[in-house]
Amino acid sequence: MRRPMVAGNWKMNGTRSDAGSLLDGVVGGLDASLTCEVVVCPPSILIPVVAEKLAGTSVSWGGQNLDTHDGGAYTGEISGGMLKDFGSTYVIVGHSERRSIYGESDDLVAEKFQQAQKTGLIPILCVGELLEERERGQTESVVGRQLDAVLAVVGIAGLKDTVIAYEPVWAIGTGKTASADQAQEVHKFIRTKLADKDANIANGLRILYGGSVKPDNAAELFANEDVDGGLIGGASLKAQDFLGICNATKNQDLG
Ligand code: PGA
Repeated sequence: MRRPMVAGNWKMNGTRSDAGSLLDGVVGGLDASLTCEVVVCPPSILIPVVAEKLAGTSVSWGGQNLDTHDGGAYTGEISGGMLKDFGSTYVIVGHSERRSIYGESDDLVAEKFQQAQKTGLIPILCVGELLEERERGQTESVVGRQLDAVLAVVGIAGLKDTVIAYEPVWAIGTGKTASADQAQEVHKFIRTKLADKDANIANGLRILYGGSVKPDNAAELFANEDVDGGLIGGASLKAQDFLGICNATKNQDLG
């Protein structure tokens, strides 16, 4: 049985005071009967504030990115060890904005995935196709290629108990969500591809959907067999919306 998960990706948003009031709303409003794991990934400079606020609550936190090195002369970067030092559990790797705006290649993303694990963090690996790739019928080959790059570095054993987020690039921040069927189709492709290598690992892996998830479309997306929760951008910045999405994991049919 996979535990549902909802992770908020705040991207480059928020001040200390915004973070404080957002988290007051989230922690104060969380339904105690929810089995869903709730995670927030703030900008790294806000992690100490978030860590202090969330200590002793059921909500965990993580980074949005990390460097491949342990430390040293890498101006502007943050290491996995630094995220871990502030109590992070997770780190997002390979978000489409990192891939497209900052030119992160599949190979670099795979190295970051490995580095995250080396520093004791659980990577949330983002994969997903561009609109033109979907239109050309290349969704599975693109997602397959992104997964293969990670498998080549860590092997299937390295995916045990990690998290994958399928985020079609055309759905991120656009208000265009993948339909429940489109999401399930790709999630199933991912799980089946990994199950060919190791069925137990594939069945235990949580595959989140990301891309314009809102309280009013979350339940339909999460009802799919292979959709284990969501990676939430815009809607994670409003406590009521984020809570509404967490609540939508109730009655989820997880394998
Ligand atoms: P969105 O972003 O929910 O604002 O579409 C999702 C993401 O980028 O993780």
